[in-house]
Order: sequence, then structure tokens, then C-alpha cells
Amino acid sequence: MPTKSKNPYLPFGDQQNAPWYGKDILSVKQFSRPDLNYIFAVAHEMRIMVERVGTFDLLKGKILANLFYEPSTRTSSSFMSAMQRLGGAVIPISEVKYSSVAKGESLPDTVRTLGCYADVIVIRHPEVGSAALAAKHARKPVINAGDGVGEHPTQALLDTFTIHEELGRLDNLNVTMLGDLRYGRTVHSLARLLTRFKGIKMNYVSPEALRMPREVIEEVAAKGYPQSEHATLEKILPETDVLYVTRVQRERFEDPAEYEKVKSAYVITPEVMKPAKAEMIVMHPLPRVTEISMDFDDDPRAAYFRQMEYGLYVRMALLAMVLGKA
Ligand code: CP
Repeated sequence: MPTKSKNPYLPFGDQQNAPWYGKDILSVKQFSRPDLNYIFAVAHEMRIMVERVGTFDLLKGKILANLFYEPSTRTSSSFMSAMQRLGGAVIPISEVKYSSVAKGESLPDTVRTLGCYADVIVIRHPEVGSAALAAKHARKPVINAGDGVGEHPTQALLDTFTIHEELGRLDNLNVTMLGDLRYGRTVHSLARLLTRFKGIKMNYVSPEALRMPREVIEEVAAKGYPQSEHATLEKILPETDVLYVTRVQRERFEDPAEYEKVKSAYVITPEVMKPAKAEMIVMHPLPRVTEISMDFDDDPRAAYFRQMEYGLYVRMALLAMVLGKA
């Protein structure tokens, strides 16, 4: 991944030789295990700093353009919070209908524009490959915050950081992904990223119509990792260390009748979780609809709200890295 052209006006103190300086973050395929160890170490430092002082000026003078063509609560607000906790500022474009996109401006022209005003661009867009297209035309680093049913790399980074912080390891785990594995971009990125670790077994539980895409299964298989597919959770739950639940993504269905058939395929309740290990975690990228009952929220294994917070630290780390301050 080439580094974006150096800005001659960058202030003193930017570490232009830092390994991630000026890089786009588009796919989990970019990250090796040493990269992940580094990101987790920086994220851990960010956590300590936020807990100690809340806000500090590592990115003072830097500006983030937060460009969201699709709805978001966590990714959008955690990137904004991350930049502001690091002392930087944000141009928030969450309602593209109020931007020149509504006048028909192309994605390349929009990111060319934002590159004039910001130092880094975070983008969420409904089309696969949109973040890569944006990166091609932006002279500032672009971070993919979800490109349609493609990838959501920063989510996979925060997901693996969550597993590390919660279970203390990322090797030798039995990871079960449940729900909408066809349209859920978070599980596509997570399955790929888990191949950086040793002794991982991946289980996919979904309705027939929402199975994990073949290309993801083939990529994981090519790296020698065992995988299994299931229609029900019962058999696989007792051996699961991480249960990663996903929402059935209504907005990706062309036929509403097809959505109705599968929308309530699985619901995690305290009763369902009885056969699970005492030391395991339940994750969810959120938002949830009905797939995890609120009755389960107080169970110590319910890690999904802590997972959101870990996202802040990982995104702080990523911003600092691409801006040459980590
Ligand atoms: N996990 C996630 O991407 O949440 P948002 O859609 O709220 O950003």
C-alpha cells in the first residue's frame, strides 16, 4: 500500500518515516500479526491515557473529515470522539443529502475536496470498493468505515482487540459467527483477520440464504484453518469461546418477504446460553434488533457494550498511526 504524497506544509513533529504514516486503511488484508500487536499496544496506551486524562493533544491541529453515506452511530461517533480526545477537529458529513453529493457530485470529486480541508478521511459508503476508489483520488489517507457488504476493517481490528482484552489471548480459540453471514461485512473482515492467529477454529451458523460467502470460506481454507457450517447453534455452543452475533441486515434485501423469513432465525437468551462455557464472551458489532435479548445484557459474558468502548481506543490508535504520531 503506497504512502500518500507528502504534504510539504506538514508541521514539524510528524514522523513521516513511521510505518503507517500516510497509509490508507481499506482492508484487513493489509495487517500482519506484528502490525496487530503494534495496534493493540497503541490502543492499550490510548485506553490508559483516556482513563487518566480524558483528552490530550497528540493530534492538535489535525482535522478529520468523517464522510458517511450510510447510517452509523458507533463508527461515526467513535471516530469523532477519537479525533477530539486526541486534540484534533472534525468535519462531520453524516447527512450527505445536505452536501454537494445531493447535486450529483462524484465520490472522487468529494474526496478531492475534503482532502483540501482535512488531514485524514473516514468513509462509509453502500458500494463495495468505494473506499478503495476514494483512496485512489484522495491525497490524504482514507480509512474504510464499511463499504457495502465488502469489509469493515476497523471493526475487525476492534473485535480482535476486544477478544484480546477480554480473554487475554487470540490463539487457540473456537469462534462461532451467527446470523447474517452473507451481508454482514463485519464477519467477512473478522474471519479474514483471525487467520493471523494460531489454533483458531471458525464455525458459521446461519440460515441457508445467509451463509458465509464462498470467497471468504475459500480464503480462510487456503490458509489451513478449520471451518464448519451449521443451521443451528446448539451443537457448537458448548465448545465456543467467542460467540459473534450479527443482525440480519434488512437494508441489503431486495425482497422484503425474504427478510421476513429469516429475520428472527436466532435469539440469544439466558436460557439459550445455559450450555455455554462460563469463560467465554458474546460479541455483537451492534446495532442489535432482536437477535440478543436484553435479558442477557447483565450476564458477565455479554461483552458487546464493552466492545463499543474498545472501538474508541483502536480508532484513536489508527488516527495517530496514519497521521505519523504513533
Ligand atoms: N458496528 C457498527 O458499524 O455500528 P454503526 O453502524 O453504528 O457504526
